[in-house]
Amino acid sequence: MKSIKNCENLNQKKVLLRLDLNVPLNNGTITDETRINKILPIVKFLLDSNSQVIIISHVGRPKGKVNKDLSLKPICENLEKKINKKIKIITNNIFELSKENLFSGHNNQIIFLENIRFYAEEETNDASFAKHLAGLADLFVNDAFSCSHRAHASVSKITQFLPSFAGLQLETEINALKKVTTEIKKPISCIIGGSKISTKIGVIKNLIPKFDNIIIVGGMANNIISYKGNKIGKSIKEQNCENIIKEIFETSKKYHCKITYPSDVLVGKNMSDKSEIKELDNIKDDELILDIGPKTINEIKNIIESSKTVLWNGPAGYFENPNFANGSHEIAKTIIKKNKDGSIYSVVGGGDTVSLINKISAIKNFNFVSTAGGAFLEYLEGKELPGIKALN
Ligand code: 3PG
Repeated sequence: MKSIKNCENLNQKKVLLRLDLNVPLNNGTITDETRINKILPIVKFLLDSNSQVIIISHVGRPKGKVNKDLSLKPICENLEKKINKKIKIITNNIFELSKENLFSGHNNQIIFLENIRFYAEEETNDASFAKHLAGLADLFVNDAFSCSHRAHASVSKITQFLPSFAGLQLETEINALKKVTTEIKKPISCIIGGSKISTKIGVIKNLIPKFDNIIIVGGMANNIISYKGNKIGKSIKEQNCENIIKEIFETSKKYHCKITYPSDVLVGKNMSDKSEIKELDNIKDDELILDIGPKTINEIKNIIESSKTVLWNGPAGYFENPNFANGSHEIAKTIIKKNKDGSIYSVVGGGDTVSLINKISAIKNFNFVSTAGGAFLEYLEGKELPGIKALN
């Protein structure tokens, strides 16, 4: 990979900068700014090098359609304040933009394109879309490690049309994960949660040979609870996962990796409800599983206590409602305690997990914090990520 640090002449060069500003938003308000803070070094580096910066990012999953609730406007305004520089957000159709008129009339050194996922061509890795984007600039920088597992036009295909470089944060994340995977101390446990079931469930089987324990919580655990013959009411669940789950359990036996999933849960009738502890055979049709229960918390604590390395990706429950944050908080507290006495090496990753850790001001109590969720897991799996492969 060519590093942007080694690019000789950036003066007056137009740089397409792919970032992952997919931050949690609540009615247009950013609830965690970590991903914005992490990209300040690359933005400052490019501005100091006197290049003209065109920022590309997505937020959420608008599925190829314009969705006002998923505008990058609040994120652009936040970045403006942080760098103390006006940033123009371009909402025109990308196909109407050209390199010549992009900065004209504004005297701007930095502009923002609106959510790139408003275009269906982004997720289909469309070549003519990527070529058009490439035509707006002189070079491309990927500083979005956390979406480099997506073979999307502004991450992957674009590199075929422009000289392409790795950004500063992307390099930091890869170097840290390389260190983790080569210098790891056993027993090693991986906690996987969150709500992006489809992204993560296929990864687990390939992680099994590398871990002593895999702890499945959050949305994905619902699939397992249901696979084991329990009712899960209105809880989120991915369809057609039975074969994957069967393989997960078979592979875990072969490699002596213990799979742990909830033995009790907290339910509510809706996301803003109070919580009730439930055994797995007692979940009603109108209930949602929204956190792990006390028995499960104890099992997980014991596993963490006996681990030398723990990797954590995805919250255990719907922590945005404090009634369902206990599972995640207890996991965090157990890791933090061991981290303080130096008896564990801990890595945490993913937008929501980082937001959770920030909420309890504990970010410094983990050895490494990755902005990446799905990309982090796929990297651990040993896969070559499309965005990284493209840079190579
Ligand atoms: C993430 O939050 O993991 C990245 O922004 C990728 O988002 P996605 O899962 O919607 O592709």
